[in-house]
Amino acid sequence: MRRGSIVRLIVYGVLAGTAASLVAVFVPWLPDSASEEMDRIVFTFWFTTVICIGIFAIVAAVIMYCVLKFRAPEDDDADGPPIHGHTGLEIVWTAVPAVLVTAISVVSAVVLAKNDDAGDNPLRIGVTAQQFAWSFEYPGEGDQPLTTGRLVLPVDQAVKLTLHANDVIHSFWVPEFGQKSDAVPGIETTLVITPTKVGSYSVVCTELCGLGHAAMRAAVEVVERPEYERFLEEAAAGGATQGTDGEEIFTSAGCGGCHAFEPAGTDAQVGPSLDDLAASAEAAGEEPAEFVRQSIIDPDARIAEGFQAGVMPKTYDRTLTDEQLDALVQYLLEGGGG
Ligand code: CUA
Repeated sequence: MRRGSIVRLIVYGVLAGTAASLVAVFVPWLPDSASEEMDRIVFTFWFTTVICIGIFAIVAAVIMYCVLKFRAPEDDDADGPPIHGHTGLEIVWTAVPAVLVTAISVVSAVVLAKNDDAGDNPLRIGVTAQQFAWSFEYPGEGDQPLTTGRLVLPVDQAVKLTLHANDVIHSFWVPEFGQKSDAVPGIETTLVITPTKVGSYSVVCTELCGLGHAAMRAAVEVVERPEYERFLEEAAAGGATQGTDGEEIFTSAGCGGCHAFEPAGTDAQVGPSLDDLAASAEAAGEEPAEFVRQSIIDPDARIAEGFQAGVMPKTYDRTLTDEQLDALVQYLLEGGGG
């Protein structure tokens, strides 16, 4: 090969590599990391990307060189020269990718193993997914867990989440934490997260689970240790399970995922609006409180015009206590203002 050709190949390679690097660096492909696990995932991502950019630069340079150098002149209908294999080249293009792919597998395996390891003494929190809400169970006094509708985590502490689903498959994902796992009815899955940045994030359901899927989110807060202790005390003072505040139950039970209700600031349209339930009760010829309560625990008994049966979960008589149902009914009828 002449020196001029080698220089041209190198120039093409540098151009292609630079273009690919700019796309890799200047497009925000990943959210900012907020956990140790996400840091490792980001490292794996860049390790693989750098290798890919190198390979891309070589392939693009050879293609550009060949297209320009060996372009057939117009009217040239002759066959190309017969070419046989090149043993040296074949060994190189088998061995080099084998080494690179092995390196990527080793790095990924180490990262996967580390990201599954919660250490000796993780904080254990249960996560329950149901259409269309998340709830979180903290170890409480005795064997009664504390259940909350938002996830509060102390910073720099490994947390082992145990995921359950009450109805269909959901998937737990906080983009900034990197880790993701399905919540599957009947089996227990786990996820390890070690938050590194104080801040507010969102749990996003990433498995299509029904009409309210897109709205199935919950707040996550990463806080300093003293603030976390305070949160636990407050949760414990609020009762053994989630409190009996109508608005809180509305949020934690996920009502807003499907229903518009002005006092709660929700505008979902999967299910009927809850803004004038008294009028609906009157139309049905029933006492408002009884009408609303029945509609929560047996949603298919009466279907509002334009909506379908079988969409709303029939689990609320099990997941909410009598007092919580009363509080929710009152909140829905009076908007919490009384
Ligand atoms: Cu739960 Cu999608």
